[in-house]
Amino acid sequence: MPKKIRLNAFSMNAVGHQSPGLWRRPGDRSAELNRLSFWTDLARTLEAGLFDGLFLADVLGVYDVYGGSPDAALRHGTQIPANDPSMLVSAMAAVTRNLGFGVTSNLTYEPAFPFARRMSTLDHLTDGRVGWNVVTGYLDSAARAAGLSKQRAHDDRYAVAEEYMDVVYSLWEGSWDDGAAVRDFARGIFTDPARVRPARVRGRHFSVDAVHLSEPSPQRTPVLYQAGTSPAGRAFAARHAECVFMSGPSPTVIAPRVSDIRRCAVEAGRRADDVTIFSLATIVTGPTDAAAEAKLADYRKYVSHEGALTLMSGWTGVDFSTYGLDQQVAHVETEAGRSAMENITRADPSRVWTVREVAEHVAIGGIGPVFVGGPKTVADLMEAWIAATGVDGFNLAYAVVPESFEDVAEFIVPELQRRGRFKRAYAPGTLREKLSGSGPKLPSRHPAAAFRQTAAAAQAAE
Ligand SMILES: Cc1cc2nc3c(=O)[nH]c(=O)nc-3n(C[C@H](O)[C@H](O)[C@H](O)COP(=O)(O)O)c2cc1C
Repeated sequence: MPKKIRLNAFSMNAVGHQSPGLWRRPGDRSAELNRLSFWTDLARTLEAGLFDGLFLADVLGVYDVYGGSPDAALRHGTQIPANDPSMLVSAMAAVTRNLGFGVTSNLTYEPAFPFARRMSTLDHLTDGRVGWNVVTGYLDSAARAAGLSKQRAHDDRYAVAEEYMDVVYSLWEGSWDDGAAVRDFARGIFTDPARVRPARVRGRHFSVDAVHLSEPSPQRTPVLYQAGTSPAGRAFAARHAECVFMSGPSPTVIAPRVSDIRRCAVEAGRRADDVTIFSLATIVTGPTDAAAEAKLADYRKYVSHEGALTLMSGWTGVDFSTYGLDQQVAHVETEAGRSAMENITRADPSRVWTVREVAEHVAIGGIGPVFVGGPKTVADLMEAWIAATGVDGFNLAYAVVPESFEDVAEFIVPELQRRGRFKRAYAPGTLREKLSGSGPKLPSRHPAAAFRQTAAAAQAAE
């Protein structure tokens, strides 16, 4: 029996997300980002299509590497305006029952204590359907917004993230026992104080000595996503991530990252399949191959190449406005994200990219592949990608929203179901149960489990 393919929709509380310029195409609703009905309609569409989740990217800071100013980003709507993703989740949860929500939140600029409460609140209000994409940022503009001159060095960000995880785990997993909020109306006791204790962590970057403000939520720790694939990023993912989101233009780029992360997870005492891996892709489809090709040709009329290079400059830390369009891209190491630069240089030495090719490729859905064709063609491409890389599924960027996701639901999901590669109904339970088939909480082999305390153990330690 072949494994079922996982599908997330990939979006952001922004315009056009990873398809710059396409917000102008008739039918695209992303310019409605400030209206709640846009998001609740999207959530309903995704649940009707049995998508596993909606993965919401978020970036603190403006994309001002391209041309050394925010002008291009502002002009093209390149991830600005960008509103807070977490605010959308309660409303979307209210109109769905099964859809998961992966919320990106940057740990560099938010103290762990209020962040942990926000995620616990969302986990309660969604009945355990929330995930957190753990990011540390890649834009100096975000650091300047926080009063720093530039961001921390790349690998140091991951070291800081390790400590941040200790703090949030101790709040989510250790501060309250299950059932501590007894709600004893007869005795007038809401919470049994003997079953609640302060989370105490003393680190180099963060310390906490506090009782978590929320009682335990269905999953306690939200489902943990991670998306950086530099060596430091992989090591972090192997320890913590339950879902990894990768982007790359070809199986040659993705396959070694997948096997390396699974190998490192085993070295970290976890199982290779404890990590569910999603590959970025964009699907342009219709009833036939010809209809899909025509749609793609129409989309191309609206793309913004400058918007695409603005994105790429932010991701890589390299100002592509200083390059000629036919210049070849050479590897440069910066303190921004490293996977994005690897994708178009060292990760596949057989492919040399010019700046123009990068702009054209990235303009529809970012650096992942674009699968174009009718149902059979696209399903074949998806299966071939999975066979060649070992990923579990896809985070699907949109070219046009909600059209791209509606097309997947109408044309691709039924084809995958016929092949036995896609579920016909949601599994019961929390997001973690739906994804892993195990319980609602992290398994004991995950590092978060070390922060669990029973009342008896806490007393013994005092
Ligand atoms: C597919 C993908 C999606 C990402 N999404 C976000 C995001 O939404 N917000 C963010 O701040 N960083 C995002 N990142 C950046 C990573 O979290 C990470 O900071 C960056 O890739 C640098 O790490 P690396 O050098 O290990 O790749 C994403 C990265 C990748 C590869």
